[in-house]
Amino acid sequence: MEKPKYSKVDRIIHWAIAISLLLLLITIFLRLTWMNKYNMAAIIQDYLRDTDQVLSQDQRIALAKKIRQPMWDWHIYIGYVLVGLFSIRFLLPAFGYMALQNPFSKNLSQKVKFQRWVYLVFYACIIVSLVTGLLIVLGPKELKKPMEGIHVLGVYYLVAYIVIHLAGVLTAEFTAEKGIISRMVSGSKAED
Ligand code: HEM
Repeated sequence: MEKPKYSKVDRIIHWAIAISLLLLLITIFLRLTWMNKYNMAAIIQDYLRDTDQVLSQDQRIALAKKIRQPMWDWHIYIGYVLVGLFSIRFLLPAFGYMALQNPFSKNLSQKVKFQRWVYLVFYACIIVSLVTGLLIVLGPKELKKPMEGIHVLGVYYLVAYIVIHLAGVLTAEFTAEKGIISRMVSGSKAED
């Protein structure tokens, strides 16, 4: 059976989104771990104690946030890039590329139905993340707190999606769809 060939447009958008999401995940990971404001405030506190200086906890946190800011700016830059990439991705079906797959179509196997649902739920979550992210940065002040409450939950679906997607692609590569990974890299058809 001839396996689908991914066009240049499909592959460029796929890898641009994949790399951007991984970079975005690194910024989130850094913020939750090494660059966590409380961890950094504690390091500042240790230094101040050793050198007989004093700052309040609020001042230490403010300093920690300032140190973290240049790293965190990248979350926002990558966020804008993702807004652009997903806008293109959602417009592409109108030009005959990357059609969105309907999970309600008839005669689908359970596996294909599941795959289509995963994509649909992922896209819905991505749209929520992008819109809430934009509203935090560009929206009215009174929306900032509620939008942050929703936006920060994004890490859960993002990690879950990456795990499911990689597991699915690897399983396909080693079972029914040999060559799927190289097709997404080079676009060539798999040799059966
Ligand atoms: C797929 C898209 C996105 C995902 C999955 C995502 C995920 C996240 C997560 C998990 C956090 C919380 C980090 C933490 O508290 O440790 C966060 C915070 C933030 N994101 Fe995003 N983000 C996305 C897109 C965007 C976009 C498009 C923007 C704006 C252009 C943006 C701006 C922000 C800002 C300003 C914060 C800090 C909120 C705060 O101070 O609590 N994000 N994001």
